[in-house]
Order: sequence, then C-alpha cells, then structure tokens
Amino acid sequence: MGVSGLDENSKLKIRESTESDRSAIDAIHMNAFGQPEGQEIVDLVNDLLKDETAKPLLSLVAEKDGKLVGHILFTTARLQPGNEETIIRILAPLAVSSENQGEGIGGGLIKEGLKQLAESGVDLVFVLGHPHYYPRFGFQTAGLLGFEAPHTIPSEHADAWMVQALKTGGLAGEKGRIQCSKILDQPQHWRE
Ligand SMILES: CC(C)(COP(=O)(O)OP(=O)(O)OC[C@H]1O[C@@H](n2cnc3c(N)ncnc32)[C@H](O)[C@@H]1OP(=O)(O)O)[C@@H](O)C(=O)NCCC(=O)NCCS
Repeated sequence: MGVSGLDENSKLKIRESTESDRSAIDAIHMNAFGQPEGQEIVDLVNDLLKDETAKPLLSLVAEKDGKLVGHILFTTARLQPGNEETIIRILAPLAVSSENQGEGIGGGLIKEGLKQLAESGVDLVFVLGHPHYYPRFGFQTAGLLGFEAPHTIPSEHADAWMVQALKTGGLAGEKGRIQCSKILDQPQHWRE
C-alpha cells in the first residue's frame, strides 16, 4: 500500500506484523529511541504483544525496499466507570528508524492504523505523545474533554494526552478515566 507524500518508487508497504518481524521491530525501536529508552520500549512491545488484557491489538510495520523501517502498536483500553460498549485503543509506541525519519512514514503508519481501527468499529483512540505531531492526524487534547489518563500527567505536559473519535459524535457524552492494559499500566510508561 502506498503512502501519500512518498515517492511511488520508494516502495513503501504498510502491513500487519508477523512473528518473524519481531527482531526487526526491536531494532527499529532501539534505533529510534536510543539508549536507555530503546531497551525499555523493546521490552514494552514484546510484553504488550503477549498481554491478554492488551487484546485485540493492531501491530503494523512499514517496509521500504524490503526492509522494515517503522512500527506502530495500538492496544485495547477501557473507559472507567465502565461503559463496555465504547471500544478504545491506545497508540503506543510508534517508531521510525532514524535514517528514514521525516519521510512521512510515521504519518503513514498512524493514518493506516486509524483507518483499520475505524473499519473494525473502534470508537476512540488515545495517545500520549508530541502535541506538535499528533494533532495533524486528528488528535486533540483529551484532558479538556474529560478523559483522565491511566496515570497522572504533570500539568505542564497535559496537552500530550490526546484523543480522537473515529465515529461522528463519538466524543459526545463520554468521559472518565482510561484503564489501559496491564503491561502499559506502569508509571514509567506515562512520563512525557
Ligand atoms: C516521532 C516519529 C515516529 C515520527 O516519524 P516520521 O516518519 O519521522 O514522521 P513523519 O515523516 O510522518 O513526520 C515528520 C514530522 O514529525 C515531526 N517530528 C518528528 N519527531 C518529532 C518529535 N520527537 N517531536 C515532535 N515532532 C517530531 C517532524 O518535525 C516533522 O514535522 P514537519 O512535518 O512539520 O517537518 C519518529 O521521528 C521517531 O521514531 N522518533 C523517535 C521515537 C519517538 O519519539 N516516537 C514517538 C513517541 S510518541
């Protein structure tokens, strides 16, 4: 699948990850986040892929000229107090190999992920990330809309906690605390 803005000759393909992609995915996160954070993210990804409370999940890779250059993971979360009918995912983590950053690959992974999640009936997608990056893909500050993060976000970083509704009117009447998967629910993953 092509990604808009990318040279058609660059042969970028976005697809679901498979078991045999695991070491290449580790290498992308290690490269993109550097040390010591890289190892923490690699462990997070591997643990999330095994975490039953994170399922269903969506794990996509970007492949350029046959080499994996990007990875994005969306895992299941729930709204507290419980409204089991609201289907929620959290985007974490996202990484693009340093030599391929700035080519639209991260954006391509986000857009393709959101498209697939919308098709599968997901209502809300949350992310804790760069407030200058994610709004261009439709995310907006979640705290102002009444959605509390699983762990307290310091007020100076409040705008890093963002949400996007994938259905028209999806934010109406919804509020509460987001309960993420067991593995993601550790304070070190909620520092911004
Ligand atoms: C953030 C990241 C995934 C973006 O992927 P990418 O393929 O480089 O992004 P795109 O090409 O789609 O978009 C490039 C834009 O992202 C911005 N961007 C990249 N890294 C950024 C960062 N750390 N903070 C804010 N903006 C960033 C660039 O400034 C650029 O903006 P511009 O279009 O206004 O020039 C990638 O840079 C990365 O892996 N960084 C290291 C790991 C990381 O921080 N992951 C995100 C966790 S929330």
